[in-house]
Amino acid sequence: MKKIVLFSILALAFAACRPSSDVSVSSPDGTLSLRFEMADDGSIGYSVQRDGDTLIATSPLGFLTGEYALQKGFSLIGKNRMDHSSVWETVWGEERLIEDRHNALTVQLRHASGIRMDIEFRVFDDGIAFRYIFPGQEQLYLTVTDELTGYRFTQQAEAWSLLWRTEYYEGLWEKRRIAAEDNTSCTQDTLCSPLTIEFADGTYAFLHEAALTDYPAQNLYVRDGMVCTCLTPWRGEQGETKSGTGTVKAYITTPFSTPWRMVVLTRTLPELVASRIMLNLNEPCRIEDTSWIKPMKFMGIWWGMHIKTMTWEQGPRHGATTANMEHYLRFAKEHGIDAVLAEGWNLGWEDWKHFSFTEPYDDWDMDYLSALADSLGVQIIGHNETGGNAADYERELDTIYRYHARHGIHAVKTGYVAPVIRTTDGLQWSKGQSGVRHYRKVIETAAQYRIAIDNHEPVMPTGLQRTYPNLMTQEGVRGQEWNAWSNDGGSPCEHVTVLPYTRILAGPVDYTPGVFCFENPVIPGTRVHSTLMNQLGLFVCFYSPLQMACDLPEHYMAHADAFRFIEEVPCDWEQSRLVDGRIGDFCIFARQGRGTADWYIGGITDEEARETAVPLDMLEDGKTYLLTLYRDADDADWLTRPYAYVIDNKEVTNRDTLQVRMAAGGGFAATIKQK
Ligand code: NOJ
Repeated sequence: MKKIVLFSILALAFAACRPSSDVSVSSPDGTLSLRFEMADDGSIGYSVQRDGDTLIATSPLGFLTGEYALQKGFSLIGKNRMDHSSVWETVWGEERLIEDRHNALTVQLRHASGIRMDIEFRVFDDGIAFRYIFPGQEQLYLTVTDELTGYRFTQQAEAWSLLWRTEYYEGLWEKRRIAAEDNTSCTQDTLCSPLTIEFADGTYAFLHEAALTDYPAQNLYVRDGMVCTCLTPWRGEQGETKSGTGTVKAYITTPFSTPWRMVVLTRTLPELVASRIMLNLNEPCRIEDTSWIKPMKFMGIWWGMHIKTMTWEQGPRHGATTANMEHYLRFAKEHGIDAVLAEGWNLGWEDWKHFSFTEPYDDWDMDYLSALADSLGVQIIGHNETGGNAADYERELDTIYRYHARHGIHAVKTGYVAPVIRTTDGLQWSKGQSGVRHYRKVIETAAQYRIAIDNHEPVMPTGLQRTYPNLMTQEGVRGQEWNAWSNDGGSPCEHVTVLPYTRILAGPVDYTPGVFCFENPVIPGTRVHSTLMNQLGLFVCFYSPLQMACDLPEHYMAHADAFRFIEEVPCDWEQSRLVDGRIGDFCIFARQGRGTADWYIGGITDEEARETAVPLDMLEDGKTYLLTLYRDADDADWLTRPYAYVIDNKEVTNRDTLQVRMAAGGGFAATIKQK
């Protein structure tokens, strides 16, 4: 486990204090403050201020359960204050070191029914968070039918969001109005968490949850101008309360803590992107030896299936054959790519009903390939598509992971293609409590076999990678594959300029960048809406410690000079920053390779061409660097001339500014290496 460097923990008051009306807590630099509020009827709420202005007006807290209405009737029986400042080291990430500085307030409550409940608030300089804690108390089982947490933002706001029933979160994020007075625009249109919010005064918020554990994922809707919580329900019999008082969302047994509810609140977009509140709210790493968890770039027998030149199942165009995998492994070795994924290597693809994860097709020689991979020093990434049959998968986890580990496979891409999954509790939403339990079981079991997970069709990430760094990346996005077969023609250029500010703020994304061939054999008219340089820019703008270069070796060799950037770009960083951007328009990221002096810059734009200027002030003073810039040619355009690019080399220092033009649907990438 990485060492946690604790600078200071200052406990101001551990013991319960007498109730007081002044129940508030400010952030370490005093910018934000949060007040816990209780009305005469014992109903509870909170409000948030920044520099004296109210950002979140009094908003409700509490629960409805099948047993009790934990909505009012509370009395305050004590409070604790604790200030915290520490720096911890990530196993992998967008930064090596993360600072956690916050002030905490825990209010201790007793409900009229006798139930004890605490609420722990944490106030950071860039946001607030809180969770409900039910301390151990005799025989307390609750069936939560509604969580009442609300967020009454005081300003006019627009939120980037997805509808909660968007299958696998694979949709186009849209901007919707959150109106302070008007409740017609999106009332009852339940949305997925997270929301990225733009306020009328040009400031921002990111509303999400952290450390989702044994509880349903939150969804959000707007009622009377307030953002309200709607937990994902149980389905079937488990979804019915005995007393008929609503739909069951969660079964909890004390002691129990809910996931954190968090709102990042910043004045600028770079600050929003830089916030690490979500990771700080998750528990420290529970895996003792993390030396086997390695960030990797990988290729795969994959895109061929999506563009239908190969098949998952056996036949004349079967992709995952021994010969093809050998070709990929040798190509990866030659080009410094760490790993190769293979889909369709195992029995079951004919009907998607009975997958085996320990029996290969007979044109796949697992022993030979694992020995070859080992001798080449290239990893094999396994693939376990369950077709949504989580229950069978869970039952066999040990056998499956033992088999993979025995063949030297230490990363597995899991898949759950089914609108509802079959868990040990029957057909359930994957983001309901039962689904959340399943995914956790997978991560924990995989860790025992030293296997990292790339989870497709997941629950929206909530920062669990801090605790389980073997959960390396997840899908939960309308990824590149849609550009191969989507009837709507592929994702619009804007899509990739929304994701860094929305989905990717929730965690690493397996988007699969790197298409180098834009002729689509599957559906005429459907294609990747980007220039080749935009594809390179994605490797820096989209963070994933397992980063796939998704195209075929022959397509890469057709542009070997541009492929050089993919060979060189790391996927693990010392530090990262958003240099410039606007949600849905463009973004430019700069990242320093972990443990190196070298920087990588990536930019992507929507359908509008843009001139950009990137000051190189992140470079070390007094040092000279060699910059290689991969940029759109002057006449490049995603639709008409996607392959038109130029590669320039020059010496730069931290006094220089990089001027680059991005074409429509274009982008750029740069390596900046210290001489
Ligand atoms: C959907 C996943 O997103 C994709 O990556 C995978 O190839 C297919 N399912 C098959 O498992």
